[in-house]
Amino acid sequence: MLFCNMFSLYSYYLLLILALNTSQNFGKMETEALLKWKASLLNDSPSLLPSWTISNSSSYFNKTTTPCTWSGIFCNNAGNVVKLNVSNLGLQGTLFNFKFSSFPYLTTLDLSSNALFGTIPAHIANLSQITSLRFSNNTLSGEIPREIGLLTNLVFLFIDQNMLYGSIPPEIGNLKSLDNLEINTNNLSGAIPASLGNLSDLTILYLWENQLSGSIPPEIGNLKFLVDLELTNNILTGSIPPHIGNLTNLKFLDLPCNTFSGNLPQNLCRSGSLEQFTTAFNNFAGPIPKSLKNCSSLVRVRLDRNQLVDNISEAFGVYPKLNYMDLSHNNFYGELSRTWGECHNLTYLSLSSNNISSSIPPELGESAQLRKLDLSDNHLVGEIPKELMKLNFLIYLNLSHNELSGQLPRKIGSLSELNHLDISSNNLSGPLPKEVGICSNLLYLNLSNNGFNGSIPTQIGDLISLDILLELSHNELTGGIPLEIGSLRKLENLNLSHNILSGHIPSSFKEMESLLSIDVSYNQLEGRIPPNKAFQNLSFDAFKNNKNLCGNVSGLQACDSSGTSKSNVMDKYKVAIIIILPLLGVLFLILASAGVLLIFYRKKIDVKEDQEEIQKDLFCVWKYDGNVVYEDIIEATENFSPEYCIGRGGYGSVYKAELLTGQVVAVKKLHPLEDGVGLESKAFLDEISALSEVRHRNIVRLYGFCSHTRHSFIISEYLERGNLSKVLSDIEEAVKLDWVRRINIIKGLANAFSYLHHDCSPPIVHRDISSSNILLDLEYEARVSDFGIARLLKPDSSNWTELAGTYGYIAPELAYTMKVTEKCDMYSFGVLMLEVLIGIHPGELISSLTSSSPTSQNVLLKDILDGCLSPPTLHASHELFTITKLAFSCLDANPESRPTMKHVSQKLSKAKTLDLELFHTMTLGQLMHREI
Ligand SMILES: *[C@@H]1O[C@H](CO)[C@@H](O)[C@H](O)[C@H]1NC(C)=O
Ligand SMILES: *[C@@H]1O[C@H](CO)[C@@H](O)[C@H](O)[C@H]1NC(C)=O
Ligand SMILES: *[C@@H]1O[C@H](CO)[C@@H](O)[C@H](O)[C@H]1NC(C)=O
Ligand SMILES: *[C@@H]1O[C@H](CO)[C@@H](O)[C@H](O)[C@H]1NC(C)=O
Ligand SMILES: *[C@@H]1O[C@H](CO)[C@@H](O)[C@H](O)[C@H]1NC(C)=O
Ligand SMILES: *[C@@H]1O[C@H](CO)[C@@H](O)[C@H](O)[C@H]1NC(C)=O
Repeated sequence: MLFCNMFSLYSYYLLLILALNTSQNFGKMETEALLKWKASLLNDSPSLLPSWTISNSSSYFNKTTTPCTWSGIFCNNAGNVVKLNVSNLGLQGTLFNFKFSSFPYLTTLDLSSNALFGTIPAHIANLSQITSLRFSNNTLSGEIPREIGLLTNLVFLFIDQNMLYGSIPPEIGNLKSLDNLEINTNNLSGAIPASLGNLSDLTILYLWENQLSGSIPPEIGNLKFLVDLELTNNILTGSIPPHIGNLTNLKFLDLPCNTFSGNLPQNLCRSGSLEQFTTAFNNFAGPIPKSLKNCSSLVRVRLDRNQLVDNISEAFGVYPKLNYMDLSHNNFYGELSRTWGECHNLTYLSLSSNNISSSIPPELGESAQLRKLDLSDNHLVGEIPKELMKLNFLIYLNLSHNELSGQLPRKIGSLSELNHLDISSNNLSGPLPKEVGICSNLLYLNLSNNGFNGSIPTQIGDLISLDILLELSHNELTGGIPLEIGSLRKLENLNLSHNILSGHIPSSFKEMESLLSIDVSYNQLEGRIPPNKAFQNLSFDAFKNNKNLCGNVSGLQACDSSGTSKSNVMDKYKVAIIIILPLLGVLFLILASAGVLLIFYRKKIDVKEDQEEIQKDLFCVWKYDGNVVYEDIIEATENFSPEYCIGRGGYGSVYKAELLTGQVVAVKKLHPLEDGVGLESKAFLDEISALSEVRHRNIVRLYGFCSHTRHSFIISEYLERGNLSKVLSDIEEAVKLDWVRRINIIKGLANAFSYLHHDCSPPIVHRDISSSNILLDLEYEARVSDFGIARLLKPDSSNWTELAGTYGYIAPELAYTMKVTEKCDMYSFGVLMLEVLIGIHPGELISSLTSSSPTSQNVLLKDILDGCLSPPTLHASHELFTITKLAFSCLDANPESRPTMKHVSQKLSKAKTLDLELFHTMTLGQLMHREI
């Protein structure tokens, strides 16, 4: 008995020692194998694995030698390496010296995104426990070893993005546990092995970007859990086996860029899970699968560039999730369905290059997310529905090469995001609407080969982004070339040929510095060709068939020197006539209408008062598109009806007005000015133009101004969230204005004021900085409004303080001096900065601090911050500290001691880091006296 026990104890020890030895051996074995592989790596790769050293393997202190503390190595409790992950380290070398047999417990090997080369050795088969093998994104070459088929525990096999060639070994079909097989982006050739049909658990199969040929084996239809099958970019042929329809879990089926033929698989989307179906660039023929019509799960569909033939009037249904649909370059016929308008998530729709022959359904205008719409190259008839102009996210619109007729809708101006507009080669007619000038993001505009008549609207010059093309050729345009075209400084290609344009080529053309090509042939132009580089290198063809052009181009007659000077005089004369004649005309009209009015008045004919008033003393400066006139604003606000009023400011009430173009603007109706400031004076004009030139992301854009005995108003950008004062006083809104946003607001304002003070010439002093003059956009970015208005309205009035400046923000020195300088703005900005931090006007705080009472000086900075918000993060605290310090220096009673806006904006842009403890103990007194 005892013996027995002794024996079992002994054998237990024996086993223990054996076990220890084995694990010690494994540890040693793994350590050695890794060190050997490390040593085999090239260049400085070994230094990328600094922790991989013997001294870091605890071998000196106890008998076990494990690499478990090394980076990228993960061990189990017994100290065996189970996971090795050295991805994305830039390791260069091969796998020849990687002794796979030393890692019998390894389940995960991730060597992806390195620079490993050479082949995958056959002895990889020794990784008997491996479940996840990741070699993606290296430069491994050679064939995939057949022995990989022995790794039957594999769940993830990623050998994509390498340079593997040869065929896919059929032995991969033995990997029954495989879930993901990604061998895309290699040079694999040959057929897809039928044995892949045995991978019964597979959910992802990526074979794209290889040289695979042959057809899809029907066995693929056995992969009943397959979700994602991607075969793009191979040289696969034949038709798609109907068995694909058995894949009821399939969400993504990508077949583009092969040479597939035959019909599209008919029973797709049986279980309603298909989201992506792409077949572009193949030779598919025949109809659209019926099963697609009710496949409401679809998100992305590309059937473009095949030889599909079908009547598409009713082939498609309504797809609530559909985002992208490309059916271009096929042989579809029939009608454009109105149900496209019910696909509310559609951003891309192309049906170009088919045989569709209907009109464009107005319902398409309901597909409000559309960014790109391409219906070119069909047989579309009828007018361009004005409903399309509701698609105000549209970036690309191509209706060219159809049989559309009628006019280009005036509402084209509401497509303000448009980059590319091509309606060339149709039967469109009528005048070019001047509203085209509102599409100020256009880069490409092609209106050629239509029957447009009338003159080229001067507003074409507003398309200052236009760079690729302005093509108006082959129309019936008359009149002169507007000199505003010269504003298109970025334009590279201009074609005005084959019209009936007359007069001179405007000398403003010399400003078009980017022009590469120009064609004005086949018109009625005359006179000298402007001295533009692009003109000098042109051939005669660009000018031929005109009335009488002269210049330094071979084939054209030179302008004789006397003729030149004479024509210059003539030019000036003509310019004078061009300016004076309309002025005389206007004068005449005014006199005439005044006369008529007078007569009407005398005869006591019931003239509508409004109409009468409008004719009188009206004066507008409009910098935006030249179209909006006094009446439009009156109409849009229903004669300044209170329901459009959105606020009250220093000089009048503000109204929201939606113009005919769909654009929303803010209109500030000025209080009547008692002493009748000369609103038409030149000084005033200069001033308003200067203000409307101001462009800064944190400054409200000023569009224009109208003066009239009845109402005078300023038209500017409309901002959604209203003014800062309102937002700060509304608890719910104030909470949304978190510290990051508040800091951002202050920084933006500092930049804006710095711009007004230092970058505008002459500098613009705001004179009325207050939280009600700061507006917020949807992203809570701040914009300065009402800048410069004070001086504008009261240029040198002595009692200007009544008008300029808001109580509580006015610098103290203004009580005894009249001198308005940038430093007055600095004081107001100081008040404003504190207001943003505290959440209310800091009037009380400022007066208690300036009374130098020690109690208020001992108040902690963190205690005055807006209590609506949670405490600031460390980073935000740094910035709040800097802001408070700057705010106090702005509030200095001595104007000379206040910083400049430039200084403030620079300080804010690089707030120093600060000890968090300091932030919690900082008092206002310390900040005021700049002890820190
Ligand atoms: C031996 O080294 C291993 C691995 O570093 C460590 O986990 C273990 O605690 C060490 N044993 C002794 C007795 O120091
Ligand atoms: C050992 O490796 C670990 C893990 O990378 C590392 O944190 C440690 O600093 C290394 N120790 C030595 C002595 O190199
Ligand atoms: C390997 O490490 C990288 C980077 O830390 C990580 O992104 C990747 O998921 C890891 N691989 C595995 C299989 O855990
Ligand atoms: C491929 O590896 C490189 C580093 O070798 C890395 O910069 C890149 O992001 C990786 N690409 C992918 C798709 O993982
Ligand atoms: C798969 O589809 C093919 C052809 O559509 C059909 O003959 C076969 O019976 C289907 N197999 C299963 C298991 O549903
Ligand atoms: C529409 O698209 C948006 C943004 O991509 C997405 O959040 C939303 O879920 C989509 N709607 C449907 C019905 O799929």
